[in-house]
Amino acid sequence: MVKYSTKLLGLAVLSVLTACGGEQAATTASADQPAAAATETSAANSADVAQVDTARIESAARQPEQWMTYSGGYEEQRHSGLTTINRDTLSDLGVGWTYEMRKTRGVEATPVVVDGVMYVSGSWSVVYALDATTGAELWVYDPEVSGQDAAKGCCDVVNRGLAVYQGKVFVGVFDGRLEALDAATGELLWSTVTVDQSKPYTITGAPRAFNNKVIIGNGGAELGVRGYVTAYDTDTGELAWRFYATPNPEKKPDGAASDAIFAELANDTWGDTGAWTTDGGGGTAWDSMVYDPVNNQVVIGFGNGSPWNDNVRDPEGNGDNLFLSSIVAVDADTGAYRWHFQTTPRDKWDYTATQGIVIADLPLGENGADRRVVMQAPKNGFFYILDAATGQFISGNPYELQTWATGLTEEGRPIENPDARNLAPGYIALPGPMGAHNWHPMAYSPETQLAYIPANRVPQGYGDLNPDDPSNSFWNIGYDLAAGLPSVYPKGTLEAISKEISGSLLAWDPVAGKPAWEVPHITTGNGGILSTASGLVFQNTLMGEIVAYDARTGERLWSSPLNNPTSAPVMTYKVNGEQYLATATGVGSSWGLTYGFAWSEQAAPQPGKVITFKIGGTGELPASVLPSVARTPKGEAIGDDAVALLGMKRFADNCQFCHGGLAVSSGVLPDLRWSAYAGNEAAWDTIVRDGLLTDRGMVSFADHLSKEETDAIRAYVLQQAWLAVANGDAQAPSTVAASAQ
Ligand code: HEC
Repeated sequence: MVKYSTKLLGLAVLSVLTACGGEQAATTASADQPAAAATETSAANSADVAQVDTARIESAARQPEQWMTYSGGYEEQRHSGLTTINRDTLSDLGVGWTYEMRKTRGVEATPVVVDGVMYVSGSWSVVYALDATTGAELWVYDPEVSGQDAAKGCCDVVNRGLAVYQGKVFVGVFDGRLEALDAATGELLWSTVTVDQSKPYTITGAPRAFNNKVIIGNGGAELGVRGYVTAYDTDTGELAWRFYATPNPEKKPDGAASDAIFAELANDTWGDTGAWTTDGGGGTAWDSMVYDPVNNQVVIGFGNGSPWNDNVRDPEGNGDNLFLSSIVAVDADTGAYRWHFQTTPRDKWDYTATQGIVIADLPLGENGADRRVVMQAPKNGFFYILDAATGQFISGNPYELQTWATGLTEEGRPIENPDARNLAPGYIALPGPMGAHNWHPMAYSPETQLAYIPANRVPQGYGDLNPDDPSNSFWNIGYDLAAGLPSVYPKGTLEAISKEISGSLLAWDPVAGKPAWEVPHITTGNGGILSTASGLVFQNTLMGEIVAYDARTGERLWSSPLNNPTSAPVMTYKVNGEQYLATATGVGSSWGLTYGFAWSEQAAPQPGKVITFKIGGTGELPASVLPSVARTPKGEAIGDDAVALLGMKRFADNCQFCHGGLAVSSGVLPDLRWSAYAGNEAAWDTIVRDGLLTDRGMVSFADHLSKEETDAIRAYVLQQAWLAVANGDAQAPSTVAASAQ
């Protein structure tokens, strides 16, 4: 069973970085109101709104009432100085206000709060400005991302956050735009397209602003793009500098800030042929970009290779493929290279170094003196500490179980397990592409000197492409997403796979290089972290809870339901003497969509929400939305085993990212096993081939898949529906009818 299930796991987990597009009918009255239909803000005078500048953000620690950037301040510690909510008052916490966003799908954002106004982004890159004391809506801006563009992403139409600077709110839009809004009215001030929109670029990360510049990266390495970070003028949207993560396809200068270091160093770490020359090579900076005011530099976390498989990406080369999976510091004014540290040379496993970067002073200097360092827990499972000024490697220790390296050299270079590089038969990678840590932000408390990591343990088998059986996948990762997957499995298989997947809230002592305490979670996809000066750590869970722990011991002190699965982090702020905890709720993302069998099957699509708590709060949580789809096959099984097997492969290659691995959906997007469309060939074709639901993010696959293949997917889906009945996990239609009488 174990052997069988790990094999299965391999496949299912490959889809870790899933994505989808699609929009549910919004539930509020003004749901379809066009962009920037702004109402007057309650703040007195628009010129006074959101007056945040570099100096003010630098003093974030002295203004703990505010939460001025994505991670609270430039050091991105997610540590708040507020103490009104503490061990003694926790039990008096109640719901403050709540707010319902107008879109369903994944929510990953951390709100920004400045001077009593909350700015928060939801799915589809919609921006909401709310009164931070009441939740009253001040304005909503919808950039109107198209359903066609929504299907370009690997990992749902999420957005992690905004930058607020000098009266403007900046949002990176899913389709590659960077936009500046008037913080007082939501009016669009400027919009610039930051990517080649003919390519599968997406933006899900939060912009950062400093010194009249706003920077943004992009994603898309699963589908095939070349990553970079660009700085724009905050007033005009004019391009200031750009730094690429991978070489120009012809190794020529781009006229970009990165040209010099590519000519000097990075070009030679790539061969001259292979998929990187046409598909960009990857290295997207889809999450972490930290402005370090002390060194006037931007520290960027670059991502995985595109395609993932280095043998496909760069078949003749054997170099490190700079700057994949690297932390790179560039001059904040010019974008010129300062230093780099590559966490995973020649990445092969989707081990991004995009995870949250934290800057702190640690007693790692001479005689225990403070040293300004950069910390990261990237996907590859090692916790790195680098000197912030020079990038010098200080330490690296495994914070999660990992099988790909036996350790690090003195320079921090991994000593690889050859089985991992050679994809030896039977080799199961830990971590897999889900990473030992993903986008869910970690926090660092200067008081406990501990980092708090939402850690994952999700194994993965990687299957090489089979040249005799091309996959027709719209993902472009250089692996066979269906390798080893069975189309029929015995009862208990899904539970067995789920048991091999877990996560934890890990308190990590960076100086000692070891864990301080750990709270295991039964599944993963656990939420980002907030730490507070009152010695508390807060975390949301996918199971729809917010929990407070003792920051020194991990003791569980308080919890409340959220009535919505959640993976976004908690943040905190204070207005009129009252401290609030706030979180955006709603699930989707790669984990939420692809791993339905491991965490739900019973979730329902519902709009994202903002939920706040305060001492003495008497508000009410919006009720849970329960699934309404009957778990019964909607048609007879069709086709023979060969057809179902083909359908299984094409489903794994093209559909599982949104509709769930092994055809089991979390319920957030339709579970095709229970879809009425599966029972009707013509209806199926209107959606899958003709693109009837394109506006909602379900695009036509007619360009990718033949009619024979989409028919086979329908046969597979029906087969899986009846398999669930046979395994006792669903009811045959007649049984349902009988029991209803
Ligand atoms: C990028 C994400 C994404 C991918 C990949 C995707 N879908 Fe969808 N699909 C959606 C969304 C979103 C919806 C729901 C649209 C709506 O709001 O009604 C949907 C709905 C559907 C429906 C209608 C189900 C119902 O009962 O309403 C069918 C059928 C369907 N998809 C089939 C497929 C097939 C077959 C594949 C693979 C070839 C596929 N989808 C791949 C996002 C995706």
